[in-house]
Parts: sequence; C-alpha cells; structure tokens
Amino acid sequence: MITIVVGTNRRNSKSKQVALFYQKLLTELHAESQLLDIAELPDDFIRTALYENNGKNEVFNVYRKLMRDSEKFVFIVPEYNGSYPGALKVFIDGLGYPSELKHKKAALVGISDGVQGSALALSHLIDVFHYLGLNILAQRVKIPFMKKNFIEGVIQDNLINQLIREQAELLVNF
Ligand SMILES: Cc1cc2nc3c(=O)[nH]c(=O)nc-3n(C[C@H](O)[C@H](O)[C@H](O)COP(=O)(O)O)c2cc1C
Repeated sequence: MITIVVGTNRRNSKSKQVALFYQKLLTELHAESQLLDIAELPDDFIRTALYENNGKNEVFNVYRKLMRDSEKFVFIVPEYNGSYPGALKVFIDGLGYPSELKHKKAALVGISDGVQGSALALSHLIDVFHYLGLNILAQRVKIPFMKKNFIEGVIQDNLINQLIREQAELLVNF
C-alpha cells in the first residue's frame, strides 16, 4: 500500500489536488494507494496526540496506523515561507520515535506559487526523514508556478508530466 500524504492542513489545498492526480498515476500503474490528508486530523492533535499524550488520541491513532501499515509514501509538500508546512512537522512528530517511517520508502513532490517548486522545503524535509530512517527516492519532482503549471487537476508542463510519471514508476519498483 502506498499512502499519499497531503502535506498541509490547509482546507481545499492544491496539495490535495496534486495528491489526487498522483493517485491516478499509481492506479494506471496498478499500484494500490490511499490518501492521507493532514487537514482531516483532529484539530487539537497538537495538544492531545504528542509527547506524554502519544497514543492517547483515538482518532489520531487511526491515521498513525495507516502510516504504520504502509511500506511506501508519497509526500506532496507545498512551500510555506521558504520551507515545508509546520503542520506536517507536527504530524511527523506525532508518529513516535522510533518513527512509523523507519526503514520505509518515500517519493517527494514539491509545489509552490513561486520559482522554487519547494526545492528548499524538500531539502529541509529530507534531513528530517533521513534522521528518522526513511529512504527517499532520488528523483524528486518540483512543480513551481502552480497557477500556470497545474490547472483543473492536470499538470500543464510536458517535462514535469514526464518527470512525475517516471517518479511514480520508480516508486512502484523502489
Ligand atoms: C502560509 C503560506 C506560505 C507560503 N509561502 C510560500 C513561499 O514561501 N513561496 C512560494 O513560492 N509560495 C508560497 N506559498 C504558496 C503555496 O506554496 C502554493 O499556493 C502552493 O501551490 C500550494 O499550497 P496549498 O497546498 O496550501 O494550496 C505559501 C502559501 C501559504 C498558505
């Protein structure tokens, strides 16, 4: 099972639309996948699921189990203030230590309105993931200028389309 993580808790995010696009790619490759949108986590999980409360929030535990039962992930990572969203870090912090991510595999997709396509955000996140023992696929995909490159759920740019399809194939065989 491949879990596609929507890397922001912003409602109706572009990240979710990209996650749905990615799910179609995986379906075409006959790979089973599911979405985990961190916007659906309980609003209070920062207080009720971390540190001394780890494991005590029953709703958060359901999402944590989805992560535990997955061998591979795709993280859709929007660029927020030159890095990845704080809500994504809180979610990762709630996955315990040793992390549910340990010794598993993931592909990363960065998205942004500006020129970077979340490049720096992905670097920051890779430092965290390597610390936790999560193996990251070398081929990362960046979608900059989202307003022109991603319209009505479809990637407009030919090269980005090619790269994301290649990445999905690589992930299936990772
Ligand atoms: C809090 C916040 C900070 C953002 N910071 C940046 C940024 O530093 N650079 C950038 O290019 N876009 C930035 N954006 C725009 C998002 O990267 C962009 O809208 C992206 O396509 C998808 O974000 P979404 O999943 O929240 O819809 C920011 C958006 C928000 C909500």
